[in-house]
Amino acid sequence: MILEHIELNKSRVTFGNECFEEVLRELDLAAYSACFIISQQKIWDFHGDRLAAAVKACGVEPKIRMVPDGESTKNLGVFGELLHWLADHRADRRSVVLVLGGGVVGDLSGFVAAAYMRGMDWIYVPTTLLSQQDASIGGKVAVNLPHGKNLVGHFWDPRAVIIDSSVLATLPEREVNAGYMEFLKHGMLESESLYRRVADLPVAVPDWSAHMPLLAEGLKVKVRVVREDPFEKGLRKTLNLGHTLGHAIEAYTEYKTFLHGEAVGLGLIYVTMVAKRLGGTYDWTGLEDVVRPRVPPVGCAAWDRDKMLDLTLLDKKGVSGIISWIIPFAPGKVEIVKGVDRAVLRDALDEFVEVMA
Ligand SMILES: NC(=O)c1ccc[n+]([C@@H]2O[C@H](COP(=O)([O-])OP(=O)(O)OC[C@H]3O[C@@H](n4cnc5c(N)ncnc54)[C@H](O)[C@@H]3O)[C@@H](O)[C@H]2O)c1
Ligand SMILES: [Zn+2]
Repeated sequence: MILEHIELNKSRVTFGNECFEEVLRELDLAAYSACFIISQQKIWDFHGDRLAAAVKACGVEPKIRMVPDGESTKNLGVFGELLHWLADHRADRRSVVLVLGGGVVGDLSGFVAAAYMRGMDWIYVPTTLLSQQDASIGGKVAVNLPHGKNLVGHFWDPRAVIIDSSVLATLPEREVNAGYMEFLKHGMLESESLYRRVADLPVAVPDWSAHMPLLAEGLKVKVRVVREDPFEKGLRKTLNLGHTLGHAIEAYTEYKTFLHGEAVGLGLIYVTMVAKRLGGTYDWTGLEDVVRPRVPPVGCAAWDRDKMLDLTLLDKKGVSGIISWIIPFAPGKVEIVKGVDRAVLRDALDEFVEVMA
């Protein structure tokens, strides 16, 4: 059932429960010269038959291709293979790429759609909570270089994003919890009411369909920010809430201990501690109890805190060495603060270690 459509730039974003068949029908797939589906085997095993049947019900016989699992798949080699596959099957500018997967498949395949013949339509069915809240919104598509993440990419909106709660049922719990942190971040950015309702969700949600209206509220936070700042000139930086320390934690632990969302969850706690030292009076007590059951043991007592702070200086959103910290003074009252005193950052990190160790 479709609950709502919203328009964002060139995309129509739809959310609902068991809704992708209905949306695909509305998109008139038969008007395209061909349909190319890209997914990952693990996801396809759960949801592929349903998607293929939905496409065939539109009178279209899709070509289907799986890409490997994992962040390392977002590379120029796989990108090139997909372009060759399209060309081998004589895809043209009136063909469509249909993507079923999380942010890895979405970023990669969206960039393929952006590049092939200087741009073709793509339709995205995000299958992780992270991609439903975050990666599917805003049109950023990219692959990684050995030098860094997302270094080659583009802004290329999918024609449609189909956010269907039913695909989340098969997502491993750890991935659910990691994606949840971006959802929680949206609550913190938006308002006390949204923050509280996201924070109050049970740790293991067996059925997301009942929470679809709340998921939609979270996603609309990103929609609004992207609408106002499509090319990341200012406001969009607030979406980086929790990410400056989050990225440092990921780098410090060599991307082995925490999923991205888990590190962001820890970063969210940390910035509330910084906020308090910069004059914030909102009482964020309780946030630790929301994050802790959703992340692996943090092990922060053993951290080299100076090294961790040095790593925050590498944040790619920094300009000429000055890091913009996104500081949550209260839910809905988040500010970009350019350059925060090292002593303040250190003091907050000491508190973080004390609380989370
Ligand atoms: N474009 C953007 O604006 C943006 C924003 C945030 C993140 N990203 C990118 O997103 C990527 C991370 O995305 P992710 O967290 O979705 O990870 P992911 O795509 O790697 O998916 C996580 C894991 O879950 C599996 N999976 C996905 N959906 C499933 C389902 N429904 N059932 C069972 N298993 C399923 C995948 O096969 C994978 O093993 C990163 O590369 C990041 O750079 C992009
Ligand atoms: Zn993130």
